Amino acid sequence: MADKPLLRVLAGESVWPPPIWLMRQAGRYLPEYREIRAGAGDFIALCTAPKLAAEVTLQPIRRFGFDGAILFSDILMVPWALGHGLRFAEGEGPILPKFLDTPGLSALSLDRLDREVAPILETVSRVAAGLKAEGHDHTALIGFAGSPFTVACYMVEGGGSKDFAETRRLAYADPALFSGLIDLLVEATVRYLSAQVVAGAETVMLFDSWAGVLSPSLFRAHVIRPTASIVAALRSRFPGLRIIGFPRLAGAMLAEYVATTGVDAVAMDTSVDPVRASAELPASVAVQGNLDPMALLAGGEALSEQALSILNATRGRPAIFNLGHGIVPQTPPAHVGALVELVRGA
Ligand code: CP3
Repeated sequence: MADKPLLRVLAGESVWPPPIWLMRQAGRYLPEYREIRAGAGDFIALCTAPKLAAEVTLQPIRRFGFDGAILFSDILMVPWALGHGLRFAEGEGPILPKFLDTPGLSALSLDRLDREVAPILETVSRVAAGLKAEGHDHTALIGFAGSPFTVACYMVEGGGSKDFAETRRLAYADPALFSGLIDLLVEATVRYLSAQVVAGAETVMLFDSWAGVLSPSLFRAHVIRPTASIVAALRSRFPGLRIIGFPRLAGAMLAEYVATTGVDAVAMDTSVDPVRASAELPASVAVQGNLDPMALLAGGEALSEQALSILNATRGRPAIFNLGHGIVPQTPPAHVGALVELVRGA
């Protein structure tokens, strides 16, 4: 396990060429995914079918030999398992009941979460076994969860939004209720990620996709504070566990996030300048990222140029090559193959 390049980088080593994996590497751009997805029923059924979810996790590893295999699931499986309700409407994205009040908070059950995530934990152990059985010895198994703030965003709005205005309004208008939700999600996330580690996850990533919509004071209260609590709780239970944080679009708050949450690595979104980040973030913290998914979609010269400039910027420090956000479904798999070849040949 200690030899896996991704884990070496997370432990603070600089490895060349850098390990590579891609956010949303299992998904609709792969015909083999679409085939399994079509036979699985809805998306939640797929996430709770351990055999199929494990198969889908392994598909991109077989095709591209990535250094990381990320559990196939979704950040919204936590509200689902807490009893909040969730469905995915075809072509519309997630739909949840709106989180409104104290009765809504009381209805969420951590005991229920512990039970409902069982199939997802079985997926983790099946992937761990699959990586071994298929000889993917250099590939690390990545567990994940959404960060409390981003999960709360979808719960309060009842789905996606461009600016999560209602969530921000609630955070100001009823700080006790909103913090109550965040604190419950901290506890849920610690339980869920601990169980993933016990099941075989070798590192974990926290996705805070909407961190960037917050004012500095709310960012400290609802991104930094809960992330620091989760990191501290996981560390006390699993001292060697490495944790990757992704505070998307954090902008000027990125350095403070890195300095105060205790994460071992930070995933840079597409807007981050990797030259500045490499120079300004502590050398002990790994950076991950941050190719624009649209450059991967475009392919050709633009893809090579962008990828090379990230490689140059992060050379000599602990770094993991990745995208700045998830791969889009229209991406030709051949572009992914070309990218892996380019990074491995660097
Ligand atoms: O990265 C991986 O390959 C692992 C699996 C994974 C999924 N979602 C699968 C998925 C991970 C790590 C996520 C994280 C996730 N989910 C985030 C954080 C990262 C980010 O993209 O910002 C968020 C915000 C979600 C919530 C979510 N899930 C939305 C908004 C949607 C609908 C939009 C879309 O892309 O379809 C999903 C659905 C979803 N999650 C799909 C997949 C493969 C598509 C479902 C399908 O196959 O129909």
